[in-house]
Amino acid sequence: MAPVTSLSDSVEQQLTSAISAALPETSADPLLRRSDRADFQANGILALAKKAKANPRELATQVVSRVESGDVIKDIEVSGPGFLNITITDRAITRNLAARYADDTGRLGVPHAAHPGTTVIDYAQPNVAKEMHVGHLRSAVIGDSVTQLLEFTGETVVRRHHIGDWGTQFGMLIQYLEEHPHELDHKAGEVSGEEAMSNLDRLYKAARKLFDADEEFKTRARRRVVDLQAGDPQTLAMWQKFVDESKIYFFSVFEKLDMEIRDADIVGESGYNDMLAETCRLLEESGVAVRSEGALCVFFDDIKGPDGNPVPLIVQKSDGGYGYAATDLSAIRDRVFNLKANTLLYVVDARQSLHFKMVFETARRAGWLNEDVKAVQLAFGTVLGKDGKPFKTREGETVRLVDLLDEAIDRASAVVREKAQDLSEEEIAERGTQVGIGAVKYADLSTSANRDYKFDLDQMVSLNGDTSVYLQYAYARIQSILRKAGEARPVAHPELDLHEAERALGLHADAFAATVAEAAAEYAPHKLTAYLYQLASLYTTFYDKCPVLKAESPEQIENRLFLCDITARTLHQGMALLGIRTPERL
Ligand code: ARG
Repeated sequence: MAPVTSLSDSVEQQLTSAISAALPETSADPLLRRSDRADFQANGILALAKKAKANPRELATQVVSRVESGDVIKDIEVSGPGFLNITITDRAITRNLAARYADDTGRLGVPHAAHPGTTVIDYAQPNVAKEMHVGHLRSAVIGDSVTQLLEFTGETVVRRHHIGDWGTQFGMLIQYLEEHPHELDHKAGEVSGEEAMSNLDRLYKAARKLFDADEEFKTRARRRVVDLQAGDPQTLAMWQKFVDESKIYFFSVFEKLDMEIRDADIVGESGYNDMLAETCRLLEESGVAVRSEGALCVFFDDIKGPDGNPVPLIVQKSDGGYGYAATDLSAIRDRVFNLKANTLLYVVDARQSLHFKMVFETARRAGWLNEDVKAVQLAFGTVLGKDGKPFKTREGETVRLVDLLDEAIDRASAVVREKAQDLSEEEIAERGTQVGIGAVKYADLSTSANRDYKFDLDQMVSLNGDTSVYLQYAYARIQSILRKAGEARPVAHPELDLHEAERALGLHADAFAATVAEAAAEYAPHKLTAYLYQLASLYTTFYDKCPVLKAESPEQIENRLFLCDITARTLHQGMALLGIRTPERL
């Protein structure tokens, strides 16, 4: 199936060639925008005229005389100081949508990017033996959506879940387990995620208590860290138990989040252990890193502490230990040289921005990153409570992610139950989960990632407003109309005149391809949520103004059903790219 050229692209092509004919020396950019006054407005003439020292209105008039109105462009006129207002024919709108509708791959005629590459995306990276909190929610939700968006544009995407599974705290945990050997004993598949976490939590608290109270235990725990780093088999086997137990928990949370995380893509900090020494050697030999008070450090002119002294990135501590930075630098080498990435994307809390700034700059100096291989932190803001402060329980503790999700599902189930007309209890439970999880994801994705947002369940499951529930109901309502249509089928009739509300809906539906391309290129799922919300709103207006099953003629019924169906497919595909389900009935 050949991709479908968007109406905006057809218009842009026509304008570009008209501009080039009028002003042969310039590279024309018509700067096309959707507009209230006409279907599109071209704003680029002013800048071009300025560059060519021409009169903008005259240039605009010349361009207009070179554009043929006809098949796609119904009307083009000069407005204001030199804008062009363009109106599209009804026929072109219906015909273009019909071509999208005919795409049996489900892609709605959306083309692949011109030059796709390979992106390694680092997201959904909780820490072993620790609870998952809302910060981990953001990374998982944003990362999952960006992954879908990129794959949809044809990018090769390698997922890396950089879990925290290494470090000194494991000495304490392993030593405790060694001295209390049956604490994690059970057969595979025997424990639920919740049980796994409470086992780990119990063990962690007990180990910590002993560590703080008993000097001799502390010494034994420290020795364990050395054994672990040296790769002592028995120590490693016990470490593995913690990792396995934690993964049972992680997978249960990801499943609740309706997110596919593959075991093979979980490459935690420990996965780079064998590279650490070499990474340090390469950095030291090239002079990128230098010894300072025994530690191996990288310095930056523009990064200074409050006292004015430079703050270095510490690649190796003076006691020989490696930390977070050495691991991330080794991961860069792996991703660039083994996985052959052109783009390294990190979906990580904005509070780690300084770390990544230093790590990326170090990798650039070492030549691992360059013009052909770039690294980007998709930094996200903090989740706030209703009071506008970082999200905490009343006791001031971090809120467990699972508790939040369960509460969202409960609230959503109540909403579904209240509206349900012909749903069984089982269906209510299933829909409640889809609506609740969708609500949480949508709220996260609909604010631009770098901003903080308030976690407000009342708002998230509200039926009116910019929520996933609103979109899910719009989708389900369309499905119900299609079911009620009986014999009548959705069929496009390009010969029919369109109502204004049909035109607005149709033009917006046609803009799906451009929206997806933009959201993927900018790693900005919120552009897609805004688009879908607008689509559902335009559909609501259409549905108010244009009777579907009671339209004037059989052809008009078919054409309106067709508009309903293409809207539904666009909603479905768009929501899928956000990781959100669209139930057929609600
Ligand atoms: N595990 C870390 C945390 O919970 C996030 C890891 C981010 N990824 C990375 N390559 N450093 O904060």
